[in-house]
Amino acid sequence: MTTARGLEGVVATTSSVSSIIDDTLTYAGYNIDDLTENASFEEVIYLLWHRSLPTQAQLDELKSQLSENYDIPQEILDHFKMYPIDKVHPMAALRSSVSLLGLYDEESDIMTDEANYRKAIRIQAKIPALVTAFARIRRGQEPIAPKKEYGIAENFLYMLSGNEPTAVEIEAFDKALVLHADHELNASTFTARVCVATLSDIYSGVTAALGALKGPLHGGANEQVMKMLTEIGSADNVEPYILEKLNNKEKIMGFGHRVYRQGDPRAKHLREMSKRLTEQNGQPELYNMSIEIEGLVTGSKNLPPNVDFYSASVYHSLGIEHDLFTPIFAVSRASGWIAHILEQYANNRLIRPRAEYTGPNMQKYIPISERG
Ligand code: COA
Repeated sequence: MTTARGLEGVVATTSSVSSIIDDTLTYAGYNIDDLTENASFEEVIYLLWHRSLPTQAQLDELKSQLSENYDIPQEILDHFKMYPIDKVHPMAALRSSVSLLGLYDEESDIMTDEANYRKAIRIQAKIPALVTAFARIRRGQEPIAPKKEYGIAENFLYMLSGNEPTAVEIEAFDKALVLHADHELNASTFTARVCVATLSDIYSGVTAALGALKGPLHGGANEQVMKMLTEIGSADNVEPYILEKLNNKEKIMGFGHRVYRQGDPRAKHLREMSKRLTEQNGQPELYNMSIEIEGLVTGSKNLPPNVDFYSASVYHSLGIEHDLFTPIFAVSRASGWIAHILEQYANNRLIRPRAEYTGPNMQKYIPISERG
């Protein structure tokens, strides 16, 4: 047996959902650059779930299936109100509430393709309302009901603030959702596949994935980037702050990647969006600081920024609370998790690797009274 630490370089499954080849990311064969430029998030959901772009009629049908399911059960809103709200991270609330959603879905454990597709629609449709309802309840505000005529991006921004978002805000948010939708066998997607490969239900798979996404080495990094930008405070402090971290061998959040070597192809789109949005809302310093950090980290460690680095200043510019950045990642990545879960069910085999044992051998049981 050979051990691959962190499963680096191990090919654990086949998949037709998305690919990273030579630092190029594609969803079902479509380059992410092309999709970011041209596709809506709903088109991308369809693409990931069916591996083809929808016709207008197919897209309309998907949108209407989603919008019919935007609402979340009152019991979950009541549950949020019972949380020790000021101590709960929104990712923990989201993880718990997706699990709760499963309790209110009568088809939770029905494993036909049709039932699984209906559950896929429900989960994808309801996650935005779970995130925004929690955010509002902890602010002491009432949740805002979704508008069925809105797409996911517009609805999210509307339900969060209660104001009608501008066309620029909707476009930026929709593009961010497109960019985060899938990413081959990343840690949370692998977690989802491992979970459902036991033939557990789709709610369990998405709940498990949310737990993995929450960590700062994965989706939690975007919130940490914003924390770092806030700590740095101004352009004058960038160099001493970053150099001290690098000298102390601390990780700079939003940099590095297990798979990409030349750079994360999603970062350039978010960099561009960050430039535009920070200029528009009168906070260009945030973008300028980010550019300087990129220069220092890439220059000294040859580590390019990943998807989380510029998404932080994009979401901040949209007026979103910093600890909602990772739940927003989940709003988008749910589409990829679901695509992988359905793919796993369609050709399932239990995922059960081995561990190389490094503990002692030949131990003899000693009665507790004789142990020193
Ligand atoms: N800042 C500083 N150094 C970094 C770094 C970062 N963000 N990412 C990697 N490195 C360094 C490590 O310290 C290590 O150096 P060493 O060989 O001198 O010990 C080397 O690069 C390899 O790092 P390692 O953590 O083993 O790589 P990995 O493939 O296991 O991890 C990440 C990949 C993404 C987890 C890692 O780059 C990271 O922690 N990045 C910050 C968190 C982040 O942005 N996550 C979002 C990913 S999309």
